Amino acid sequence: MQQTVENKKATILVTGSSRGIGFEVCLNLAQQPGTKIIATARNIDSLRKLEQQVEKLNNQSVIFPLQLDMENYGFEKALIETLQINKLMPSTVIHNAGLLINKPFAEMTTEDFDRSFSVNTKAVFILSQTLLPFLQKPAHILTISSMGGYQGSAKFPGLSLYSASKAALAVLTECMAEEFKNEGIKANCLALGAVQTEMLAEAFPGYQAPLSANEMAGFIADFALNGHRFFNGKILPVSVSTP
Ligand SMILES: NC(=O)c1ccc[n+]([C@@H]2O[C@H](COP(=O)([O-])OP(=O)(O)OC[C@H]3O[C@@H](n4cnc5c(N)ncnc54)[C@H](OP(=O)(O)O)[C@@H]3O)[C@@H](O)[C@H]2O)c1
Repeated sequence: MQQTVENKKATILVTGSSRGIGFEVCLNLAQQPGTKIIATARNIDSLRKLEQQVEKLNNQSVIFPLQLDMENYGFEKALIETLQINKLMPSTVIHNAGLLINKPFAEMTTEDFDRSFSVNTKAVFILSQTLLPFLQKPAHILTISSMGGYQGSAKFPGLSLYSASKAALAVLTECMAEEFKNEGIKANCLALGAVQTEMLAEAFPGYQAPLSANEMAGFIADFALNGHRFFNGKILPVSVSTP
């Protein structure tokens, strides 16, 4: 039986919360008083661990762990159910879940294409559309892209479909901002540089990123809560590399 709460304080949906940046973003957000966080991923055990950590950190905040596989069309039905049962109206959505397939272009398959675009792009379209009637205005939709998907940035071999799907996500965000600009909904995209997570370690073994997941999460959490007062429809590189 899921917990029922009244919707009074900030309600935030974070995808890809089972590890890495998303996990840390949830811990950071949970330190705000009375935050309600809908935390989604496939790995429900990790989401339960997140819930336990938040209970210890700040028992005024609540995690709603929700198992979603964003590669399977129809996954949004479970989200609608969670929102309705718990009377939740998110004011902030952080589309953080991501899939990185590292392979030479010549070896990429159509299945790799579909998986990359399903998680990194199509799921954001489906989730954003699903959430429209539930959003508490003013609302902020924040997408997490990559420097690899930022036009004119350095590109890396093996990341063609990851980078292309993240570039599509960035432009999708610009388009959402345009369509929602008179509806109290802002949309922005952060194109992240390297962050030390399992995803990065799997893609670039031995490489040491300049930022930890916790450091980047602090920036993302703050931007998600406040950035829409200053930005709309923007694709912002968040990277210490030059230019
Ligand atoms: N780390 C970097 O250097 C870096 C740089 C630029 C951009 N980014 C972006 O930042 C975001 C977070 O990256 P990260 O490094 O923290 O990655 P990560 O450690 O691999 O975490 C990815 C998250 O996405 C979730 N996810 C993946 N496939 C999913 C699916 N089919 N359905 C639902 N959830 C799914 C994973 O949860 P489950 O496996 O439990 O489903 C996990 O929680 C990603 O969008 C990534 O592209 C990262």
